[in-house]
Amino acid sequence: MHLPTYKEARTMNKKPYERKAFLLNPELKHRYQGTYHLKTYGCQMNEHDSENIKAMLEELGFLEVEDYEKADLVLLNTCSIRENANNKAFGMLGRLKHLKEENKGLIVGICGCMAQEEKVIQDILDKYQWINFVVGTNNLYQLPEVIAKVIESKQQQIEVYSREQDLVEQLPVKRDNPYSAYVNIIYGCDKFCTYCIVPYTRGRQRSRTMEDILNEVDHLIHEGYQEVILLGQNVNAYGKDLAYGYDLADLLEKIALTKIPRIRFVTSHPWDFTDKMIDVISKYNNICPSIHLPVQSGSNQVLKRMGRRYTIEQYLTLFDKLKAKKKNCAISTDIIVGFPNETEEDFMDTLKLVEYCKFDNAFTFIFSKREGTPAAKMKDNVSDEIKEKRLQQLNEVVNQYFLENNQALLGTTVDVLVMGTSEKKDGYLYGYTDTMKLINFIGEKSMIGKIVRVEVIDAKTWSLDGRAL
Ligand code: SAH
Ligand code: SF4
Ligand code: F3S
Repeated sequence: MHLPTYKEARTMNKKPYERKAFLLNPELKHRYQGTYHLKTYGCQMNEHDSENIKAMLEELGFLEVEDYEKADLVLLNTCSIRENANNKAFGMLGRLKHLKEENKGLIVGICGCMAQEEKVIQDILDKYQWINFVVGTNNLYQLPEVIAKVIESKQQQIEVYSREQDLVEQLPVKRDNPYSAYVNIIYGCDKFCTYCIVPYTRGRQRSRTMEDILNEVDHLIHEGYQEVILLGQNVNAYGKDLAYGYDLADLLEKIALTKIPRIRFVTSHPWDFTDKMIDVISKYNNICPSIHLPVQSGSNQVLKRMGRRYTIEQYLTLFDKLKAKKKNCAISTDIIVGFPNETEEDFMDTLKLVEYCKFDNAFTFIFSKREGTPAAKMKDNVSDEIKEKRLQQLNEVVNQYFLENNQALLGTTVDVLVMGTSEKKDGYLYGYTDTMKLINFIGEKSMIGKIVRVEVIDAKTWSLDGRAL
């Protein structure tokens, strides 16, 4: 049993990590029969972890089922970014408890970011003895061994390391999308923004080597993938922890030269965004003109208390440079309202910023207290009612710009990577523009999986409608 502590999770470690290849114990290969259901919460990194988890479970012999009530093993890949993410998983656990009363043999497990929370693990030990196992993000590769132990010993297994272990390559993967693939480039986060739990749940920053990443991309191209989405909590810090001296700009350039049609990357911290990166992004057409650049707040006072390490002036300089240098660049963002002691004036500064940037997309949140983070201890004089009101007001403004940006595309022709047939609109296909806009359009089924030219004929707040040319 290994239990996580925040104290250890908080430490900075300069010790280089070991890089090793995943190898399933041959005795476990297809050893079990049964079905599994995996529920995924949270960000793209979790979605991609789930693609690895599915493949690991299938190597053990489990088969995926859509209905969790029919599964022999239910695993929750959890998120703890805000309180409601935790609540969702606990709600699901309530349902699973009932299910387990009827089906005693059901195996229930938890992985993902909640597994790293000291408090959650204490709760599980105290009140959720019926949960069969917990595996942390830092040792996810041990999942097959842990499940085997649960089955053989019939005892609860909690295997969670507070800090990153080895950097494990060659995990098996069962990808959800046959045209667009996630590729991890950097794990963990060293930024410690004061509100954020991620540095505690994902360990210190560690980059995969350029060689491993390029091998994966080559493989994906060979399999016919049209797009790679490079993943990291802060991709712009790529390479900083390696001794090789290359950075995200070098990596992007190498991937661009493979001629894969589309390259995206998320998420960029404004602080690490260099001119060299902007130059590379501008130089290659297969690097998509779509940058997610979380600003969090329009007030310098608030940014300072958030520990974001840039000012609004610096953010705007970067924003303007990207817009000027990268043709048709769409910029999206994340914004938190109701940070402790956020004044009306701070909030007005955020609205002002939004009015200047006219973001193509924005994810907006009310500050959520995360135990163990510095902001959870900050005094807060803003009522929940005011926070709700600010969020609503902000959403009205950001939505108006989503619509305006979409309307500006009316009558133009856009390149669309076609993902499939639309579930909402009969007879329509759907896909994404290079600027990451969802478009439903009339076209031939043979277009699925390809990049096609589409004329925009209608614009809404959240999507476009079109007709293939
Ligand atoms: N690594 C990314 C963000 C990952 S979390 C970055 O630094 O930009 C995604 C978003 O969730 C953050 O950008 C932030 O807006 C929001 N978020 C994180 N912690 C939060 C908290 N405690 N309360 C509310 N929103 C939060
Ligand atoms: Fe969280 Fe900040 Fe790291 Fe993003 S950069 S994951 S907001 S600590
Ligand atoms: Fe959530 Fe962890 Fe991602 S907290 S947002 S799943 S890194």
